[in-house]
Amino acid sequence: MKIIHTLSEMNAEILKHKPHKQIGFVPTMGALHRGHISLLEASQAQNQLTVVSIFVNPTQFNNSSDLQKYPRTPEKDLEMLRKSGCDIVFMPNENEMYPQPDNRIFDLQNLDKVMEGKHRPGHFNGVAQIVTKLFEAVPAHSAYFGLKDFQQLAVIKQLVEMLKIPIQIVACPIIRENNGLAMSSRNELLTFEQRAQAGIIFQTLTQIKQFWGKKTISQLEDWAIQTINANKLFNVEYFEIVNSRTLEKADFEQIDDGITACTAVFASQVRLIDNVQILN
Ligand code: PAF
Repeated sequence: MKIIHTLSEMNAEILKHKPHKQIGFVPTMGALHRGHISLLEASQAQNQLTVVSIFVNPTQFNNSSDLQKYPRTPEKDLEMLRKSGCDIVFMPNENEMYPQPDNRIFDLQNLDKVMEGKHRPGHFNGVAQIVTKLFEAVPAHSAYFGLKDFQQLAVIKQLVEMLKIPIQIVACPIIRENNGLAMSSRNELLTFEQRAQAGIIFQTLTQIKQFWGKKTISQLEDWAIQTINANKLFNVEYFEIVNSRTLEKADFEQIDDGITACTAVFASQVRLIDNVQILN
């Protein structure tokens, strides 16, 4: 497994292989878990060479203590990637990715204004900054992202379409712990009790399917918020049932784009996000 730290070396390596090999790319912020490995495996199944990047991107954190606390486990990450047969790891430092401040502002067609965007202002602009830099350094054929970050996926698809970046975006299923908790690097920050009980988030999201059509959208959202908040370990930041394409509030009359229930929940200071597709 090759480990590369600079943009120029990374780019040269891809250009060397691109004429002969199908290349897949898995961008990550490290603290790898089975969810990330499932992205790597999806790429390996469809490509001859897979690159994984590890970079904790400061511009997508709207809160400096969240950035500081973000788990960093580089040795363990490299070991996992080695065992899983990853070909190349791109591990730049901050100076390499941001030699000077990135002042670009992206028009993400309001996809960045709702849900996560409302509660984490600037987050998706930061994601757009780093993803465009990464796609430039790693001009792969396909890039793999988890559906746990449902809104991020919508934003990245929009970005690629808008900037005509020639890369196929592949959405991969959410990998869950036994109790249904979506796998996330942040799960490491939960107490044993919080982690054991966090299955309530997925259970509540899933139950929306059973009540679909029997209550109004707002009633369903209110019910879900009350159900999760009834457990004192958790506090819902938002629970929204949205059109899967536009991410606007769902409407029973407009279901062609699909419907997804999305939530962000605090367990003390740890923020967990999850979603379930209600209609496809
Ligand atoms: O999903 C993530 O881990 C990050 O947001 C990404 C896409 C690697 C950009 O930093």
